[in-house]
Amino acid sequence: MSNFTPSFLDQVLARTDLVELIARHVELKKSGSNMMGLCPFHHEKSPSFSVSADKQLYYCFGCGKGGGAFQFLMEHDGYSFPEAVEYLAEKAGLEIPQESASKPDDNKRRERALQWLSKVSEVYVRQLFAESGEMARTYLKRRKLPESIVRKYMLGYAPAGYGFMQRCFGEDVRVLAGLEAVGVTVKGDRGYIDRFRNRLMFPIRDRRGKVVGFGGRILADEQTAKYLNSPETDYFHKSDLLYGLSEHRDEIRKRKMLLVVEGYMDVLALAAHDLPIALAPLGTAIGENQLREIFRLHDQPVFCFDGDRAGRQAAWRALERMLPILKSEFAPRFLYLPEGEDPDSLVDKEGGDAFSHRILNDAQPVLQTWLTGLRNLAGKGADGRARMAKKAEAMLVSMTDDYLRQAWRQEAEKATRITLTHNETGGRRYDRTVSVKKRPVNIVQESFMVGLMQKPERLYDLPDDLKRINLDEEGLDRLYRRALDSIRSCGASEFNLIQQLKYEFPDDIYLAKWMNQAAVSDDEFASLIMDMQVAILKRDLTFEKDLSRNLKMQAALAELQKRQKVLRVKLEDSRWGDE
Ligand code: UTP
Ligand code: MN
Repeated sequence: MSNFTPSFLDQVLARTDLVELIARHVELKKSGSNMMGLCPFHHEKSPSFSVSADKQLYYCFGCGKGGGAFQFLMEHDGYSFPEAVEYLAEKAGLEIPQESASKPDDNKRRERALQWLSKVSEVYVRQLFAESGEMARTYLKRRKLPESIVRKYMLGYAPAGYGFMQRCFGEDVRVLAGLEAVGVTVKGDRGYIDRFRNRLMFPIRDRRGKVVGFGGRILADEQTAKYLNSPETDYFHKSDLLYGLSEHRDEIRKRKMLLVVEGYMDVLALAAHDLPIALAPLGTAIGENQLREIFRLHDQPVFCFDGDRAGRQAAWRALERMLPILKSEFAPRFLYLPEGEDPDSLVDKEGGDAFSHRILNDAQPVLQTWLTGLRNLAGKGADGRARMAKKAEAMLVSMTDDYLRQAWRQEAEKATRITLTHNETGGRRYDRTVSVKKRPVNIVQESFMVGLMQKPERLYDLPDDLKRINLDEEGLDRLYRRALDSIRSCGASEFNLIQQLKYEFPDDIYLAKWMNQAAVSDDEFASLIMDMQVAILKRDLTFEKDLSRNLKMQAALAELQKRQKVLRVKLEDSRWGDE
């Protein structure tokens, strides 16, 4: 995690033009002293999204989203805070001060690795269009991928043989070690050999568009895996990446259409038929982080599966995965293709228009997929209905949106004609992740954290004794530590603290809960601080043996409690005043 100095962050912001950054995604028109456009964070027909060039801030009057440049990248493009800073710093030609990074070695290593990957990717591209790439080019023709697509997605070719990388980059051991670290060579008995040989190469980019790894497809039927992917590294997490994301993000937003498919070829074939709206996981079943990314991009994604048994099973797995993050605001749909077809083969047969017609008309809502799936799993008859009810109940518990869970429960009850247990807790999944050492949550401490999240700048006025304590509950304390750190290093007003924490701890049970908490007023917050101080003093008093210090502490405690009383009366009054 970053520790950028406030002055560095100021420099980055000073050299960033928020209007330009946003104008790449949103059409902005001048209106008074601001620019206005259609909000990229929610659906709307008339513009309520404003960007102020003077203040370098954006705000949507419709949905309330707002912030500065860092936040825009975080909320709109799913960057982490450090990624947003690095991205804008790089764009502005600023060097990231190494001493300000918490793990400079890691950063440097990653930076170097990404440079290598981009070089390697260029080399593969060149090879594809060189003489030795002829077979690969013929293959692409047979697969009907036009050159424009091949160029745009930077497909390449890794030639046959074992020593291509060495021929390109030389014998320097440091270079060879670098190539091995990024996964394009493998160290064997006789030195470094190429990992990818005689394969069509698909560079895989992260959300910033940097190449972080490759998928390589064989060109003929061989006795080896059809696709070979780069090995996992700390920048190539297969379960976090989506093929096509950086290329398709803007089109997805513009066309309000997102299709999740299974393979690289599907993504490209659809793009070739003017449907640059598909994303694919990297050969693994879709995971929760990928689903989050998808829903962040578009709230009505369509998940595409083969209509055969395996396809239906894959759809079911995706559905199970999405339950914990599903909200009533999302409307995912499932599209089954005719048996034996994948989007690539089908769009080739029927064309892009017919295919988008399918997306619009044939995709079924997730609820329907759920009920049908349950019915198929459970079978017929009374015991089938009972099994269906049990399975439904088991799945409902993993849903975290209370209203949606109730709505789905009622649907399952209608379908089974069985009353399900009314388990209102939901989100059971989280219980497993909470540590066994868990202590009961202190209400005061939790409210204090909520207040801090809502106004991070409150940290500046926090008494020092409070900054030093640990909160009772481990999970709460983890967030408190993290908040203290990032506010110190980044400045509180620069970004949305809760958003950043959510990014770092996506599964955190507190953060999920705090998103919609009622506002903690300044007086309430002051009172919470006092409550905590009183608790600390009382605890310390029992340990303080030195009489004079003990007396001083008692005096301080008495004073605190007096102020606490005054504030409580004030709070009470203001509460009455509200009615
Ligand atoms: P498919 O086997 O469906 O391939 O694998 P495909 O996408 O239709 O590709 P073509 O049309 O045969 O060229 C779907 C995805 O699963 C991963 C790849 O990401 C592929 O795009 N996969 C498949 C692997 O990682 N390894 C494999 O051996 C096969
Ligand atoms: Mn295919």
